[in-house]
Amino acid sequence: MSVVSATAANSTGSAPGSQPERVVIFDTTLRDGEQSPGASMNHEEKLRIARVLEEMGVDIIEAGFPIASNGDFEAVREVGRIIKRSTVAGLARAQRRDIERCAEALEFAERKRIHTFISTSPLHMKFKLQMQPDQVLLAVSESVAIARNLCDDVEWSAEDGSRTEHDFLCRCVEAAIKAGATTINIPDTVGYGVPEEYGALFAMVRNRVPNIDRAVLSVHCHNDLGLAVANTLAGVGQGARQIECTINGLGERAGNAALEEIVMALRTRHDLLPYTTGINTEIITRASRLVSKITGFVVQPNKAIVGANAFAHESGIHQDGMLKHPGTYEIMTPASVGLVRDSADRGGLVMGKHSGRNAFRTRLRDLGYALDETVVSESFRRFKELADQKECIYDEDLIALVEDQIGHAEGHINFVSLRVFADSWRRPLAELTLKIGDEEVSGTESGNGAIDAIFNATKKLCKSEARLSLYQVKAVTGGSDSQAEVMVGLVDGNLNVVGTGFDCDTLFASCRAYVHALNKLIIKRQGTAPPSLSA
Ligand code: KIV
Ligand code: ZN
Repeated sequence: MSVVSATAANSTGSAPGSQPERVVIFDTTLRDGEQSPGASMNHEEKLRIARVLEEMGVDIIEAGFPIASNGDFEAVREVGRIIKRSTVAGLARAQRRDIERCAEALEFAERKRIHTFISTSPLHMKFKLQMQPDQVLLAVSESVAIARNLCDDVEWSAEDGSRTEHDFLCRCVEAAIKAGATTINIPDTVGYGVPEEYGALFAMVRNRVPNIDRAVLSVHCHNDLGLAVANTLAGVGQGARQIECTINGLGERAGNAALEEIVMALRTRHDLLPYTTGINTEIITRASRLVSKITGFVVQPNKAIVGANAFAHESGIHQDGMLKHPGTYEIMTPASVGLVRDSADRGGLVMGKHSGRNAFRTRLRDLGYALDETVVSESFRRFKELADQKECIYDEDLIALVEDQIGHAEGHINFVSLRVFADSWRRPLAELTLKIGDEEVSGTESGNGAIDAIFNATKKLCKSEARLSLYQVKAVTGGSDSQAEVMVGLVDGNLNVVGTGFDCDTLFASCRAYVHALNKLIIKRQGTAPPSLSA
């Protein structure tokens, strides 16, 4: 993938017959996405997401906010170390220590960017920053100059840019470019803008800022009014050539503009939106599922592009039309977003009891999983167990097995065995054995139901006070012998995690998910609480 360098944003689209213009995709799932309450990810999970983003062809991956915590610092550092094709960015407030910490985190990145920001709207300057406009303007020049001394690629953002007075915004943008910023981002931080107005802001900046041709203009839209994607496209229509977005639209409050929606809109309506991206759209579904699984943020079924119903046709009239010509009700193909139709629906038995290790490994590779041998071995062992319990093994089953294996590797707490007693006459009992560190511990607890008993036993053995914030069960495939995918969310003080567990038995899957969440809490506790984004 070629990484697009800073080029002048000097057009509002392609002239008829000319080459379509390339827009840069800046993904901030690991930074703005991770800021959504409850969507935190651990180190390994961030690396997994970063790898998929790189594979997908994202130009810039914003990997975190290094000053926020040691965990964020280490994540940015490691993403910088492993990612080779995408540029890796870190966020910093307009303060020397933030910017230096960010540069330190990016030390090993082959392509790096420092992204520094400060609020510019009257409301934010007065109440949040308690600074005068002249002080903010000075901070813009100083912070960008510090960053530019440490990195050739510097992005400056006017936080709450869409609610900033135009004269002041233009002065700040000009100062940032003069100090060395190569990308200028004007966020709609609170999702207040409407498309015409947000687009016009870009036209205004391009018309009024004398040195604007020396920087790439960027859009960054939040979705509080459900307009993030529309605003993004309006900004691009008026000359922005970088789009900031997240997978599944993850992000603060109502989220950010969704990468998959923007990219597919550009691709599907290329007739009216003549811009290209470097995104391999066939990886979208995998990326979406990974982010959803890691964060525990379920994608709504009717969500555009990646919702479970996005390509489903229920009504007879639609099904009839689809059989005659897929174009009747599909404006893009499921394959174009990497959606392999549910293999159970296709009647496609992909693997069976007698399938060998090689076929297993090859099938996983086809599904996008290039795994090391230890993961393959353990997943293969569980696949054989599953094949004894379940007649048909589908792609979805294999994905579940591998995801479980990757997610649960090297936990401090490990599930050993479980027995549940439940009938119509007594309170259910759960008899549980776990391995905690090197020690095996067992205990029996009762509960209002079988799940409650299991969770009580787990809490007791692990001496956990964490509060359950999410419990969700989903069938991996059709059929009552399907594996269950369980998500368990736990909150402990200001820490928030989501664990997953898979098993043909929902009770076992629930226990595994609870143990997984507890392991994530242990890892999380080693980090520190992030400061707010206020300067
Ligand atoms: O929404 C916003 O303004 C941001 C900035 C930090 C870029 O996320
Ligand atoms: Zn944001």
